[in-house]
Amino acid sequence: MDLWRIRGGARLEGDSVVQGSKNAALPILAACLLCPGRVELLRVPRLRDVDAALEILRHLGCRAEQEGDRVYIDASRLSGSVIPRSLMEKMRSSVIFMGALLARTGQASLSMPGGCRLGKRPIDLHLLALRELGARIEEAGEEILCRPALLRGAEIRLPFPSVGATENAMLAACAARGETRILGAAREPEIVSLQAFLRGLGARISGAGTDTVTVSGFRPRDSLRFRIPADRIAGATLVCACAACGGDVLLRNCDPRQFSAVLHFLNDAGCVIMQKHDRVRIKAAGRLCSIGPVVTAPYPGFPTDAQPLLMAALLRSEGESVFRETIFEDRYRQVPALQKLGAQIRVQGREARVRGVKRLRGAALEATDLRGGAAMILAGLSAEGETLVRDAGHIRRGYEDLNGSLRSLGACLMYEGEEHGIIQNSEAL
Ligand code: EPZ
Repeated sequence: MDLWRIRGGARLEGDSVVQGSKNAALPILAACLLCPGRVELLRVPRLRDVDAALEILRHLGCRAEQEGDRVYIDASRLSGSVIPRSLMEKMRSSVIFMGALLARTGQASLSMPGGCRLGKRPIDLHLLALRELGARIEEAGEEILCRPALLRGAEIRLPFPSVGATENAMLAACAARGETRILGAAREPEIVSLQAFLRGLGARISGAGTDTVTVSGFRPRDSLRFRIPADRIAGATLVCACAACGGDVLLRNCDPRQFSAVLHFLNDAGCVIMQKHDRVRIKAAGRLCSIGPVVTAPYPGFPTDAQPLLMAALLRSEGESVFRETIFEDRYRQVPALQKLGAQIRVQGREARVRGVKRLRGAALEATDLRGGAAMILAGLSAEGETLVRDAGHIRRGYEDLNGSLRSLGACLMYEGEEHGIIQNSEAL
């Protein structure tokens, strides 16, 4: 169990560098299976989800290790295509190994993935896409068996731009005979970085970032060095933290265009935003104004992952802000904890109405999921007194060093956690 002890009230000032992207790194780690040789990845965030991906790679017979923010993978001796449930259930991205295994070995045996509980989160679109490519998939309860099959190019129509299903289809299509077109593809930046990685392996692939991705089967190169892009949601987290507390923060090594929808609403709420191609500065003072409706949508719409974070920033604003969550059925799980701090939030189905209050008071909270847990920390920073966030490991799945980033900006918080098996020192508040 990790513990975050937060003393609210400090303004945030200074510079921070944004970590490498969790959601870009995870599908790329699965894609390393396609390379019958060595891959070196730079700027890989040190996260529990990355640890889980490396464990899967090692279980499959690959060499996989992380030294700082560099990861070395050698899949030349891949010896298996079975991923046990104990590894699958650690994160949602384990399901992307299905497409990668089909591409490399033509078969796979796995089970339903884990990940934040944000609703049902089925994988029917993943299976639809892979079956279009000729995969012979049998489902038995939670188990999924992909029997040996030759994959052939196809036209895949996704009824919803699922990020994971797009990634799985891209990876399997790399080994399909002929050309594959993925229509209705997700347009997230993580699709673009996966395309860049596959191009680095020699893939003829195009269209990532649009709703149509085209891939031709190819023979991957046997080595590659690739740099993971910045994490747009980690960037959104830090700008929302500044908005929640007030202050003047500069984020470096990020692409603000990738979280422009968040910056747009913070600007509407009264923050001053200045940006260049690789950095963004935010200034916030006094009470924010209410905004909305904030409607979550597939990229380039407002990202669902930033909904809890923007909500936390608006708890002490003037007036009432409205959120509509269209991506996940159960993504207001942070609300009861925010209400414990004194926030006025009314949830009706997919809509949440946040009426700003003058003051929040610290309380003892329990993190419910990755971004909901981060939202509790942001809210604690803007509350009076001390807030405790007990966390069964959600936050460390996606944030490399949220504690360090916020402390370097002047936040008053302490983190005690099981960090790669070592209890982190609990710094004095
Ligand atoms: C990715 O999840 C991200 N995770 C999520 O970030 C993010 O919230 C989500 O995309 C949406 O942007 C990673 O990239 C590791 P989806 P993913 O498939 O791929 C439904 C975080 O905090 N759906 O686009 O699972 C699904 O239930 C995480 O970093 C189906 O119905 O998202 C959901 O309602 C949380 N059938 C919607 O589509 C399917 O086969 C979006 O899911 C697949 C998805």
